[in-house]
Amino acid sequence: MHDILDVLKGRRSVRKYKEEPVPEDLMEEIIQAGLYAPTGMNRQETLILKITEPSAVRELGQINGKLMGREGFDGFYGAPAVLCIFSRRGARTGIHDGCSVLSNMMNEAASLGLGTCWIHRGKEQFETPEGKELLKKSGIDGDAYECVDSVVVGFPEGEIPPAGPRKEGRVFSI
Ligand SMILES: Cc1cc2nc3c(=O)[nH]c(=O)nc-3n(C[C@H](O)[C@H](O)[C@H](O)COP(=O)(O)O)c2cc1C
Repeated sequence: MHDILDVLKGRRSVRKYKEEPVPEDLMEEIIQAGLYAPTGMNRQETLILKITEPSAVRELGQINGKLMGREGFDGFYGAPAVLCIFSRRGARTGIHDGCSVLSNMMNEAASLGLGTCWIHRGKEQFETPEGKELLKKSGIDGDAYECVDSVVVGFPEGEIPPAGPRKEGRVFSI
């Protein structure tokens, strides 16, 4: 059992992954961490879409890369799994809730020795025709929910360098 602060300080964004799939029980632990994240007024309206089917992960990664303006680039860095977080459209704390879920899951994954990276353009990736098709397959109602962002998960390939120093002057007190 690691001290939580050690886990938080040790977590880094990983952008190179082994092909090896993430064992189902570890994915479940990460999802549990997301389900226990705080949400505004405890509404728990966020949804988590787990994608581990290799062709679907790669397809969405390509969509994401293209949205970055990099056609043919895997925006998911070869990770074997992605967790996409959805909030109810128009929900007052939808983005905040989604980020809360994302953070919890990333930190849980780090505590399990897995690598993650927060991936932006979640909303846009499910607005493409291919993204809409994937969403339909998942059973999530795209009219009622929109993706906040995603987190890719996998075993890191290579060393993870320690975090750099924190910027000064970011804490105030009264
Ligand atoms: C809102 C948000 C969006 C991000 N989007 C991306 C992204 O699309 N692709 C990526 O490689 N990293 C993305 N990141 C990861 C950041 O670049 C990373 O957290 C930051 O550089 C600090 O590095 P660290 O996570 O290793 O501490 C995102 C992070 C946040 C919080």
